[in-house]
Amino acid sequence: MAVLDHISSQEAMALENKYGAQNYHPLPVVLSKGEGVYVWDVEGKKYYDFLSAYSSLNQGHCHPKIVQAMTDQAQRLTLTSRAFYNDMLGRYEKYATQYFGFDKMLPMNSGAEAVETALKLCRKWAYEVKGIDLNKAEIIVCKNNFHGRTTTIISFSNDPVARKNFGPYTDGFIKIEYDNLAELEAVLSTNPNVAGFMAEPIQGEAGVYVPSEGYLAKAKALCEKYNVLFIADEVQTGIARTGKLLAVDHENVKPDVLILGKALSGGLYPVSAVMADNDIMNVIQPGNHGSTFGGNPIAAAVAIAALEVVKEENLAENADYLGKIFRAEMNKYIETSSIVNLVRGKGLLNAIVINDDEDSDTAWNICLALRDNGLLAKPTHGNIIRFAPPLVMTEEQLLDCVSIITKTLKEFEE
Ligand SMILES: Cc1ncc(COP(=O)(O)O)c(C=O)c1O
Repeated sequence: MAVLDHISSQEAMALENKYGAQNYHPLPVVLSKGEGVYVWDVEGKKYYDFLSAYSSLNQGHCHPKIVQAMTDQAQRLTLTSRAFYNDMLGRYEKYATQYFGFDKMLPMNSGAEAVETALKLCRKWAYEVKGIDLNKAEIIVCKNNFHGRTTTIISFSNDPVARKNFGPYTDGFIKIEYDNLAELEAVLSTNPNVAGFMAEPIQGEAGVYVPSEGYLAKAKALCEKYNVLFIADEVQTGIARTGKLLAVDHENVKPDVLILGKALSGGLYPVSAVMADNDIMNVIQPGNHGSTFGGNPIAAAVAIAALEVVKEENLAENADYLGKIFRAEMNKYIETSSIVNLVRGKGLLNAIVINDDEDSDTAWNICLALRDNGLLAKPTHGNIIRFAPPLVMTEEQLLDCVSIITKTLKEFEE
């Protein structure tokens, strides 16, 4: 079979099941085309994408400007490695650091790699700037976090499925409750070896948990008080998703270390980055850290275009506006619903909590029915369904999606 021969959904799923590791449990739908807020399956059925590859496609599928930047660059120079300079990386670094307001950035590929980078940066800063005794540095993280899948990152996860049988685990992390300032201060005030506090401004994978208002600003102030780095993992919440460029912007917080990924490329290519000012980033010297593909010319061209689109198309403002409409419409529905308990979120990162047991399959069945009705979404954990459409959506499209969602939910009401 030639690679591009037509393939049915059944054939495509059978191939993945037979030849691919079973590390995901995808919704049974096989996509072959995407444009803006829409995707099409191999049989030609059209859907609204209401997940956006976990908030990577904020700029919409196959955004023409980003595709153009990528294809132009792909025909000129794709990879140099960092053994040599290239004519795109510096331009990208200047553009992106000015865009987010930091002195320097360190380019990587996946979100997990950027998280690893931030953790290494924080530890090195701890020994060389803060003066913590060698190998004693600790980093505070939050329960129910999701920061990726590497051995170190799963070491401080409390998801048994992500952790079980992958030990031994990496030391040096202290887990506290999310959205609990008293616990944060209790650790900071008693443990001089703490170097950093890493958190998601909204816990996405855990089920779109929005912390109390003021939490991020107060956590940052505590970090300042105890000379600890505030590390914001904005891989999922960043780049306009929550109605501001960064989710920390809702509380006017500037993190000491910012972690970005996903929509940094508009979903075309794995592009991630860590940003910090010189007093922190300058601890990294040649040979300390890197990646063959990190900062490659295609990534640089794609990321510049992706970030330009966010500003040119006012995606943060649109996410803010549509998010308010979405939650208002869902709340109207919830008033008389027995199947949905609540909707929560910020901008266009939202979730509904289904009124059923954590381990019931109701949320999964609702997602199957949503698919049949032309909208793709997926449960995060248990009975929670995340809704994160591309931010290029129009109000008319959003209202169409709301009617698909409410019509589908009605099929599940008692
Ligand atoms: C907050 C957060 N950090 C890190 C990651 C890991 O990113 P990646 O899957 O690109 O490694 C994710 C992925 O969902 C995420 O949501």
